[in-house]
Amino acid sequence: MKNENIVWHNHAVDKSIRAYMKKQRPCLLWFTGLSGSGKSTIAGAVESMLAERLQHTYLMDGDNVRHRLCGDLGFSEEDRIENIRRVGEVAHLMVDAGLIVLTAFISPFKSNREMVRQMLSGGEFIEVHIDTPIDVCETRDPKGLYKKARAGEIKDFTGIDSPYEAPDAAEICIKNDNISIQDAAQQVIDYLDQHGYLKPVKEGSDAIIG
Ligand code: ADX
Repeated sequence: MKNENIVWHNHAVDKSIRAYMKKQRPCLLWFTGLSGSGKSTIAGAVESMLAERLQHTYLMDGDNVRHRLCGDLGFSEEDRIENIRRVGEVAHLMVDAGLIVLTAFISPFKSNREMVRQMLSGGEFIEVHIDTPIDVCETRDPKGLYKKARAGEIKDFTGIDSPYEAPDAAEICIKNDNISIQDAAQQVIDYLDQHGYLKPVKEGSDAIIG
């Protein structure tokens, strides 16, 4: 913080009241995986299923956020870290607003993802590893970017000449090389159901997962 004369103000309407009104436990579903692994597609399918159940959500994905909020950033290690820091901060605010937030970013660095986990309270950060082998991503190549990276037209491309550090202990790990989008999304919904995120919460701050 650059200015020491800033004091935090606790407002009367807080996260627990917002969660109570939305009848859900706010959380952040953090999808991580290679480009073309299916993060955005599966996150979108999860959001549709949640919408059918009248849950309150918001989905942010890399390609969209990089048009606006992070439009000034590239793909160097430093820029990727700043990208994830900003997204983490925005997601943190959205969780505070009582939402179930879904993010789909490669987020290749373990320590960077851990930084976002630390921004949130216990139980709020749910890491979802979309574990698709790189040869499958490269065969799919939905945006033609692997082809360009192999041809040397894009540098620092994740999995080619920039690293991807897979999670060791993601809350949810989806092997996405032989499974339908619906089945993959259902795994996430099942996790939320089993852990009580989609149930109305009692009024009061202890209603939040902690
Ligand atoms: S992250 O590494 O900072 O988390 P992010 O998820 O925002 O990346 O953006 C990844 C998307 O940007 C990819 O899905 C792909 O469409 C595009 N992209 C463009 N250049 C690169 C690159 N050098 N490495 C990875 N993805 C890239």
